[in-house]
Amino acid sequence: MASYSMGFLFALVVCTFALGALGARDLADDDWLIAARHEQWMARYGRVYSDVAEKARRLEVFKANVGFIESVNAGNHKFWLEANQFADITKDEFRAMHKGYKMQVIGSKARATGFRYANVSIDDLPASVDWRANGAVTPVKDQGQCGCCWAFSTVASMEGIVKVSTGKLISLSEQELVDCDVGMQNKGCGGGLMDNAFEFIVNNGGLDTEADYPYTGADGTCNSNKESNIAASIKGYEDVPANDEASLQKAVAAQPVSIAVDGGDDLFRFYKGGVLTGACGTELDHGVAAVGYGVAGDGTKYWLVKNSWGTSWGEDGFIRLERDVADEAGMCGLAMKPSYPTA
Ligand SMILES: *[C@@H]1O[C@H](CO)[C@@H](O)[C@H](O)[C@H]1NC(C)=O
Repeated sequence: MASYSMGFLFALVVCTFALGALGARDLADDDWLIAARHEQWMARYGRVYSDVAEKARRLEVFKANVGFIESVNAGNHKFWLEANQFADITKDEFRAMHKGYKMQVIGSKARATGFRYANVSIDDLPASVDWRANGAVTPVKDQGQCGCCWAFSTVASMEGIVKVSTGKLISLSEQELVDCDVGMQNKGCGGGLMDNAFEFIVNNGGLDTEADYPYTGADGTCNSNKESNIAASIKGYEDVPANDEASLQKAVAAQPVSIAVDGGDDLFRFYKGGVLTGACGTELDHGVAAVGYGVAGDGTKYWLVKNSWGTSWGEDGFIRLERDVADEAGMCGLAMKPSYPTA
């Protein structure tokens, strides 16, 4: 009896000590734990490093990013972040790698015409729109390491207007834009503008399908035989008045719209779910597509946006960004440069 009591007491003391030791340490700062998490993350995302030094460097970046993500997630927000496929690269590396939207207007060949939804009454718009439910959005695609978000944004809004105007949803070719729209401002994986791409498509007579001219994730030589395979076409394109979310709502109610955002902001980069609110930047470097809008359960108004970073990012590849914010540029600058193709 006595020895049993002693053993029990000993176990109790050891447990209390162990708990105390754990509680005294900040788990996020624990080198061993973060290294184990990094290993798990590497396995999940299939990441392999060239050598031990590179791995050690990536672990430090991972640790800093996880620290940021956990500090945001510990706060009281309408959204949450995740250590996703970008968790082992720095903000500068990310911007350099994914920067695909080129802001310069000088020398742009784009000549957008008027805004056809100007006279639509905002009161007549539906409270929510989801172009996925109308079959006007193809499955989320993944641009990979190529900075050609502009091509994915262009194709997403074109797929939308083709469905709206013809009733057919056709997955169209980003690679054709990457390879063939290289005459002036657009530079394949080096970046481009959606309006320039619309201009190219108008002049080319349309675009080939994704299946016939598939995505390779790298710059290539234009395949002129495939370039002349026309699966769908557009007549022109128009810019939504800048910094005007009401005008953007009129356009998105009618069709998916290409928008530019600050995709290099860490809030955008690590977004996992909810409605992104708060201080996102407005350094436009990423092209995506607004494919709807709505109101969350708690009353927060949002834009539904299709991204091109695969389905494991965000809400199955989509992000909801707060709508009608105080800053006229919109959340992450989304109201600054919207445009859409016309049928
Ligand atoms: C909007 O209404 C005004 C006044 O009636 C008209 O002049 C203009 O052409 C209309 N704009 C569009 C895009 O329909």
